[in-house]
Amino acid sequence: MARILITSAIPYINGIKHLGNLVGSQLPADLFARYMRARGHEVMFICATDEHGTPAELAAAKAGKPVEDYCAEMHEVQKELAAGFRLSFDHFGRSSSQRNHRLTQHFAGKLAENGLIQEVSEKQVFSIDDNRFLPDRYITGTCPNCGNTSARGDQCEECTKQLDPTDLINPRSSISGSTNLEVRETKHLYLRQRALRDKLEAWIDSKTDWPILTTSIAKKWLNDGDGLQDRGITRDLYWGIPVKKGDAPWPGMEGKVFYVWFDAPIEYIAGTAEWADANGLDDAAWERWWRTDKGASDVTYYQFMGKDNVPFHTLSFPATILGSGEPWKLVDYLKSFNYLNYDGGQFSTSQGRGVFMDQALSILPADYWRWWLLSHAPENSDSEFTWENFQASVNKDLADVLGNFVSRVTKFAKSKLGEAIPDGGDFTPAETALIADLGARIRDYETLMAQMEVRKAAAELRAIWVIGNEYLQAAAPWSAVKTDPARASAIVRLSLNLIRVYAILSRPFIPDAAATMMTAMGSDDWTWPEDVPAALRALAPGDAFSVPENLFRKITDEERADWQQKFSGIRT
Ligand code: MF3
Ligand code: ZN
Repeated sequence: MARILITSAIPYINGIKHLGNLVGSQLPADLFARYMRARGHEVMFICATDEHGTPAELAAAKAGKPVEDYCAEMHEVQKELAAGFRLSFDHFGRSSSQRNHRLTQHFAGKLAENGLIQEVSEKQVFSIDDNRFLPDRYITGTCPNCGNTSARGDQCEECTKQLDPTDLINPRSSISGSTNLEVRETKHLYLRQRALRDKLEAWIDSKTDWPILTTSIAKKWLNDGDGLQDRGITRDLYWGIPVKKGDAPWPGMEGKVFYVWFDAPIEYIAGTAEWADANGLDDAAWERWWRTDKGASDVTYYQFMGKDNVPFHTLSFPATILGSGEPWKLVDYLKSFNYLNYDGGQFSTSQGRGVFMDQALSILPADYWRWWLLSHAPENSDSEFTWENFQASVNKDLADVLGNFVSRVTKFAKSKLGEAIPDGGDFTPAETALIADLGARIRDYETLMAQMEVRKAAAELRAIWVIGNEYLQAAAPWSAVKTDPARASAIVRLSLNLIRVYAILSRPFIPDAAATMMTAMGSDDWTWPEDVPAALRALAPGDAFSVPENLFRKITDEERADWQQKFSGIRT
């Protein structure tokens, strides 16, 4: 049994996330967590809301609420939606927690002690028309690297380059559009990432098994000459973690807070501490996941995120960890994703274009979305959601292949042989062949799941469903029952056992349907089918089963057209 720590990039607090956000981090992380638990490993799966920064302040102002109240409410909304999608976090924390305040201040203090913080008197963009300093994200301009004309002051989303607002060409306020900006003097803290460059490079070079998408982004910013800039880690904002050196005040930094990207990844650790607090456990309980001097040296740590998050997780956060000089756990494997596009364009939170988590659940249960999203995860390139494709996948994979198998087997068994696992009949070469094929495919599925090859694992799972259908079609118990009832019994007994095995294998993808299948088979034995022949005998003659409700319904053409229209833009 291994110990596996899994974190998903923590979603921003402002607003409900769309399906593109979901499939880029939280959902594949959940798939992996569920799989690892199913294999008997000890898993700690942490996510949280990313609550600081200007977007939260502005969204609260727009909602006419104090930012503390806004964040508390939105946290509950996001937590509910995560539960609706069956995201199996051990804890869904908040980056505004006291745990994160203390840990963030602790790290800053350690970094300062180690000479890695520089106080810089800096020029910052002040918007005269808006009468405020403009945080990085609220300055828009042309990217000096790629020429994108709507790059943000912190990062260009086109080329992923991390930016400083003063790098932008033709800057303007994103709040008012005003170009009436001036630069004013203010003091800030900088993390001397450059001083850690060699350590970071050695660490990244040691990660020979990382996906190309991850290492290429990391390497790019490490080797680009100006790629690894020292980073400002403080801001002139009200909402955030007050700048302190550990427990002590930081002279000259009064009224300032840490930059959201400094405190957000620390929330992975703080969220685990929140988990311990919520469960009445002591510090040792969370430290054994994070401190290599306190038991975490046998932990394997996996992170999941969209590609735009990679620089922060391969450079900035590791710089904080390494720079602290303390034995904190660094990520072992970083799985990153490309973008999911929506029906010929992009998902857009600001334009309300695409399907958002609450809307998705209001039209279909979680499993339908989980299956489509995971089986089309944007791994090797960007992928696209279209309603046609969604309808086709649901109707074919879920309804025709899996749902149909379960309903045919159980209905036939009940009507011809009764509501118990039938006795009698021996396996023929058809069963032996199925068992051999299934065994090979399950081993393949395990390998793909362990490698986080999400799409390929989905395809293998579907193939496993298909061979059951093909077997049933060829074995034709509906014919056998007329002449050789024992033969029909053997076929049905194997098929009912197959349903239980399908429940176990499918659970990481479609947990609700898996539970329905398992309950219908009258079992609660989720033991992973290491030994396939044995797993196919788990339900013994005489054990009761029942016919489940239809597992999946088909999406009609009318519904598809209706939804396509409804989610084309401007969220209502
Ligand atoms: N909120 C960020 C986003 O959605 C992700 C933060 S991940 C963490 O892009 F590292 F900060 F935790
Ligand atoms: Zn760019």
